[in-house]
Amino acid sequence: MKKRNYLFALFISISMTLVLLHDAIAEDPAVTRTRHQVHMLDTLYKNAVVLITDKYVTDPSVFSAASAAGALFQVMKDNGFHEVRLIGLTDVLINPAVNNPQDAFEEEVKHKLLAGEATHEEVVTIDGKRYLRMATAVPVVMERCVMCHANFKGVDGAIGSLVYKVPLIE
Ligand code: HEC
Repeated sequence: MKKRNYLFALFISISMTLVLLHDAIAEDPAVTRTRHQVHMLDTLYKNAVVLITDKYVTDPSVFSAASAAGALFQVMKDNGFHEVRLIGLTDVLINPAVNNPQDAFEEEVKHKLLAGEATHEEVVTIDGKRYLRMATAVPVVMERCVMCHANFKGVDGAIGSLVYKVPLIE
């Protein structure tokens, strides 16, 4: 009987520790909400780029979907919604001055995504305001990408990334 009481007390204390531990590492709901928004934006932007490339970009001289997306990203930034940019993770880039990784976070994105991770993220505070920086992988989703990016031929996995900086939905 005594032994059973002892085991019961042990069980209770382990359970309570697990509950406390779970609370300590439970995610900030603002981060969860914002990540969900990034997933929504990511689906929208990527499908737009694929659709434009598929239906309109039939020749290498045509204004690329990446350039169109860049113009769209600028509009979203000018309106104060969020920032997002397309970076290249390969050695040969069409626009290296702008699309190469540009800070420590983007270098880390390159490292992680080339190692096979689907996303990479961090929360930063700038002037007292919190932001989610989140990067998602861009693979060679269709044969036509190779028409302008010869170095993408036969490449599996990420060759680029959409890197977001979105104000946290507090
Ligand atoms: C019509 C030619 C064309 C096609 C087709 C094309 N791109 Fe691009 N891509 C560009 C141009 C031009 C840029 C540079 C845009 C800029 O920075 O303004 C670019 C930039 C990029 C970048 C950023 C790195 C860099 O090279 O500057 C990535 C990543 C990328 N494209 C991926 C893709 C993917 C994936 C596809 C297929 C869905 C694709 N591209 C199809 C012309 C093309």
